[in-house]
Amino acid sequence: MPAHLLDIVDLGADGVTEIVDRAMADPASIGRPLEGRGVALVFEKPSNRTRHSMEMAVVQLGGHPVYTRGEEVGIDVREPAEDIARVLAGYHAIIAARVFDHGLLGRMAAVSDVPVVNMLSDHSHPLQTLADMTTMRRCLGSPEGLRVAWVGDYNNVSRSLAEALVLCGGSFAIATPEGFGPSADELTRLNALGPGDVSAGHDPMVAVANARAVHTDTWISMGQEAEKEQRRRLFEGYTVDAAMMSRAADDAVFMHCLPAYRGYEVAAEVIDGGASRVVMQAHDRMHAARGALSILAGGL
Ligand code: CP
Ligand code: NVA
Repeated sequence: MPAHLLDIVDLGADGVTEIVDRAMADPASIGRPLEGRGVALVFEKPSNRTRHSMEMAVVQLGGHPVYTRGEEVGIDVREPAEDIARVLAGYHAIIAARVFDHGLLGRMAAVSDVPVVNMLSDHSHPLQTLADMTTMRRCLGSPEGLRVAWVGDYNNVSRSLAEALVLCGGSFAIATPEGFGPSADELTRLNALGPGDVSAGHDPMVAVANARAVHTDTWISMGQEAEKEQRRRLFEGYTVDAAMMSRAADDAVFMHCLPAYRGYEVAAEVIDGGASRVVMQAHDRMHAARGALSILAGGL
């Protein structure tokens, strides 16, 4: 059975560390484990960073990326997810997909002869987290004991980040409006994953106190467009602004997976200011993808 990358927990702490190490290594030391092989990239949702970073990572590893849009493939519309996975596994070394329903990825992985990679689902975004862990390592050093804050929606991006930080011994403080945070069961699950810890509340000033990295994400994820006005009202007061950043540690960095909506989840003065690392974070998507794909392809 191949290893799949559907969630950060599939990797464990050693896997996350290994991928971050490879992301920061000279690409020449990783070689071309995908030489003469394909990687299928199927997108049911739009993308800028994930498509470009994955395509270029595949090329750097010697492989050939094949991009297809969800409408074209028609997962469970034109044909079942299982048939798609069985067929693509005969052409490609790896199948990667961005889907609305996380369950589709599990169904594909269950029948695929090659690794299946999650390029974002409603549940999680592990490739983003691997980039975030790389950027934080570059800027702040080891994740062990690292204080990280999350302000805004507890969503796919924050779930994967929480998993990685607990696995690697970090401390993650989440502040969301009522009804948008992790459930009690989810908090228990996260805290049981490893040596780190996760706390959740509703006061962003408490979450960011002494944090060395402050993360946020859009208040309206792909698929939630109909809730836009309601969410914008409910998330008022959760904009990461200069006053909030001044509560964080002196050397704190601001991080956002992008795309960002200035004036909503983050003030322009923060995302365009000196503490922002969002462009490095976006570039680390490619380095982390290369690290992850090299392991799945059996490189080194
Ligand atoms: N951060 C991220 O996944 O960006 P894209 O949606 O542009 O791929
Ligand atoms: N939470 C966002 C992340 C976008 C990269 C979404 O799912 O749309």
